[in-house]
Amino acid sequence: MTYPETYTDKGSGLPILFIHAFPLNSAMWMPQVEALHTQFRIITFDYPGFGNGGPALETCSMDACADMAVGLLDHLGIEKAVFCGLSMGGYILMAALRKYQDRMHAIIFSNTKANADSEEAKKTRLSQAEDVLINGIDGITAGLLPRLISDESRVQQPELDMVVMDIMRQATPEGIACMLRAMAARPGSFDVVRGLTIPTCVIVGKNDMITPQSDAEALADTIRNRILHVLPTSGHLSNLEQTERFNRIVADFCSTLSS
Ligand code: MLT
Repeated sequence: MTYPETYTDKGSGLPILFIHAFPLNSAMWMPQVEALHTQFRIITFDYPGFGNGGPALETCSMDACADMAVGLLDHLGIEKAVFCGLSMGGYILMAALRKYQDRMHAIIFSNTKANADSEEAKKTRLSQAEDVLINGIDGITAGLLPRLISDESRVQQPELDMVVMDIMRQATPEGIACMLRAMAARPGSFDVVRGLTIPTCVIVGKNDMITPQSDAEALADTIRNRILHVLPTSGHLSNLEQTERFNRIVADFCSTLSS
């Protein structure tokens, strides 16, 4: 199975595989790598077309992304890991659930949802995919930035906009177009999350504009063995906006699992 060209693997103990959001890359997980590698084995990677992930694929799908994530575990000789996906990372994790539940020790869904796109959202993604190939990534990244971080976080951490923009700028037009099409084509995932028995942690920001609290609650409501954390001042990028709280939630959750 193919695995991503670029990854980091730091620490030892229970492995946690972090799957990045769109159109970011593994650099978004830097605060988690730094804080958590003393307790756990932290693995992050870049999808093709993002960060150091190499050239974008011709076509991609959430399923192919799930194959790559598990391909990396194979490459590293890891049988089971905790899978943590934020937003698009969560969509990929849901695709992975269809095929690879036996590789999951536990699950962390952060700022994500199980709904498929509405017809209107699909159309918007497909026209953005065409636009980015013609006009480059500036329009889409500038449009996304205000919606990724809450106003409170922006006041508390004025540098965050720049940090996030710098990460997004490492994406290629082809990578963005490919993932937009893949996200538009993804099915709803309530059928796979319903009945999940693997320990699951759901995290959402109270002020998340992209995957609102109601969507996270709808996801959490379908899972029996789960805990739900709503972070009061956070927007969509909870791991960067409420880093300490996020890390504590992940560490506490993972510490309760026997490896
Ligand atoms: C993400 O943060 O991964 C994306 O904004 C998700 C989406 O566009 O649905």
